[in-house]
Amino acid sequence: MSEHTGHRLAVIGAGVMGTNIAALAIGHGVPVVLVDVADEVLATARATVGQKLKHAQLMGVLPAGRARGELVTSTSPSDAADATTVIEAVVEIAETKAKVLTEVAGLVRPGTLLISNTSCIPIDEMAGWVGRGDELVGVHFMNPAYLIKMVEVIRGTATSDATMERVVALLTALGREALVIRDAPGFVINRLLHPLINRAAMLVQEGVASAEVVDGLLQGCLGHATGPLRTADLIGIDNLVDSLNVLHERTGDPECAPCDLMLEKVREGQHGRKTGRGFYDYGKTAR
Ligand code: NAI
Repeated sequence: MSEHTGHRLAVIGAGVMGTNIAALAIGHGVPVVLVDVADEVLATARATVGQKLKHAQLMGVLPAGRARGELVTSTSPSDAADATTVIEAVVEIAETKAKVLTEVAGLVRPGTLLISNTSCIPIDEMAGWVGRGDELVGVHFMNPAYLIKMVEVIRGTATSDATMERVVALLTALGREALVIRDAPGFVINRLLHPLINRAAMLVQEGVASAEVVDGLLQGCLGHATGPLRTADLIGIDNLVDSLNVLHERTGDPECAPCDLMLEKVREGQHGRKTGRGFYDYGKTAR
């Protein structure tokens, strides 16, 4: 509960990352209000957060002896009003993020830390939407957020020193380590990772190798933990296509235009683990 840390999170968007971040926070004793658009999404999200907490506990990555934070789910952004920090984790579409961030920034008290978990949209672009860019910072939690300790923190041009101190304090309370970078489309991780995944998918598309072989080579020869296409299935191919479009529009880099195979998988509803099928078959949905 909040008496452990003083933090109260509102997480907007209860998909892959919203549930990851909620599990991380609750497991560290921080209460969370998780907001999404529909009750069915939230019912699934509650179950998913429970599974992720169980997984985190099994992996021994939660602090011992700490009471869990409370989880409240809601379809009303106004339930975020009492938070000390808002973490935006909705789809990687600028118009949706603009609407959500503008609304929530108008609901919370001045001094509330505003975080976006965006994959690729520059923080300075978002600062223009919320009108309080000094309190806005990018925190790119990795997936799964409760297993990977390192996070990429993006300081926007307007982000204040006080906000940087507060975000580091929050991440410390969540047991995370931060490396801070300057703002740019895709930041560091996704400017490197997303074109790699896109290129790996193109090799499958061209018939050069199967997904298993591409991943096997990256694992066996380059020491990649899972291979780029298993990573794609974990991230969500729908999210990757949105993120590549954001990168392509903002950098003009042709390597970032999503390849036909990824576009086809999205059209066919093969979004990766969350739909049970992507580059690999999972048999059942596994967020
Ligand atoms: P997702 O598609 O799994 O979940 C997005 C959620 O946002 C959905 O549940 C959707 O209903 C909800 N949503 C849409 N509009 C909304 C609104 N107006 N109000 C409230 N909720 C709304 O997406 P995912 O993968 O969780 O991505 C979320 C953000 O995190 C994106 O910006 C993504 O680029 C970023 N990200 C994703 C990672 C991944 O591995 N999937 C890793 C790191 C960052």
